[in-house]
Amino acid sequence: MIFVTTSHDPDEKQVQRALELAKELNLPYLPRKDHPNLSTATCGEYCYVVEKERIVVKYDKGEFFFHPSMAKVRMKNIQKGLKDHLIDCLKLTGTEIILDTTFGLGTEAILMAAFLSSGKVVGLEASAEIFVVVRDGLRNYRAKERWINDAMKKIELFRADFREFLHSSNPESYDVVYCDPMFENPVFESSSMNPLRPFAVYGTLDANDVELMLKVAKKKVVLKAHAKDTLFKRILVDKIFGSKKSQVLYGVIEKK
Ligand SMILES: C[S@@+](CC[C@H](N)C(=O)[O-])C[C@H]1O[C@@H](n2cnc3c(N)ncnc32)[C@H](O)[C@@H]1O
Repeated sequence: MIFVTTSHDPDEKQVQRALELAKELNLPYLPRKDHPNLSTATCGEYCYVVEKERIVVKYDKGEFFFHPSMAKVRMKNIQKGLKDHLIDCLKLTGTEIILDTTFGLGTEAILMAAFLSSGKVVGLEASAEIFVVVRDGLRNYRAKERWINDAMKKIELFRADFREFLHSSNPESYDVVYCDPMFENPVFESSSMNPLRPFAVYGTLDANDVELMLKVAKKKVVLKAHAKDTLFKRILVDKIFGSKKSQVLYGVIEKK
C-alpha cells in the first residue's frame, strides 16, 4: 500500500503537512500511532513520512531523502581549481535562465544556480516521489554553507514531464535547456543516485526531443550521457566535454 504518514509522536504541524500531502497526491493518510511498523503497512510498496525537518520516502530496501552533498563535493573541487565539465561547458555570464528538464536530486541545478548572480534555474521532475521529496528539501533544508542556501532560493521546481512542458513553452523562452536522463548504462558506484533509482522515470532522448529543446533554448542545449550510452552516437552535438576517467559526458548544441 502507498500512503502518507508522519514520524512517531508528531506535532500538529507535521500532521497538518501530512494531511495536505495526502490530499495533493490523492493518497490515504494513516496516523502513525495506528501503524508503528511501516514495512507491515507498506506491504512491499512505500510511504511518505513527514518528519519534523523533512519528508522521506521509505520502502523495504531503504529510504529516499533530499541532500545536497554531491553539489558540495563538486563545488569544493571547483574551489580547488579542478574542472567541472558542466560548469565549464555552460560558460555562464550569471544572468541566464536555465531550464533543467530532469531535476532528480537537484545536485546540478544547485551547482548551476550558484553561478547565477541574477538568473535562475527552472526545474522539471516527472516522478511524484522525487518531486515531493526534493521540493520539500529546497524549501526547508538549511545547509551550513551559505552558498547552498542562496543557490536553492534561485530554483523553481515543477512536477512535469519535460516533453509536455517543452511542447507548451514559447520559442526561446530559456537561455539554456539542460537534460540529464537516466543513463542507459547506470553507474551503481554513484551512490548518491542509488536511493533515487526505484522512483525515477526512465527512457532516453530522441531527435524530436532535442528539436523541441532547441526550439525553447535561446543560446544552447546541453545533454548528459555516459560514454557507453548511445545518445551521442544518435544525436549530433557541436562539442563534447567530459572526463575519460568518470566516463560522464556533456554534449553541447549551440543555437545557431
Ligand atoms: C539522472 S537523474 C538527474 C540528476 C540530476 N541532474 C541531479 O543533479 O540530481 C534524471 C531525473 O530525470 C527524471 N526524468 C526522467 N524523464 C523525465 C521526463 N520525461 N520529464 C521530467 N523528468 C524526467 C527522472 O525521474 C530522474 O529524477
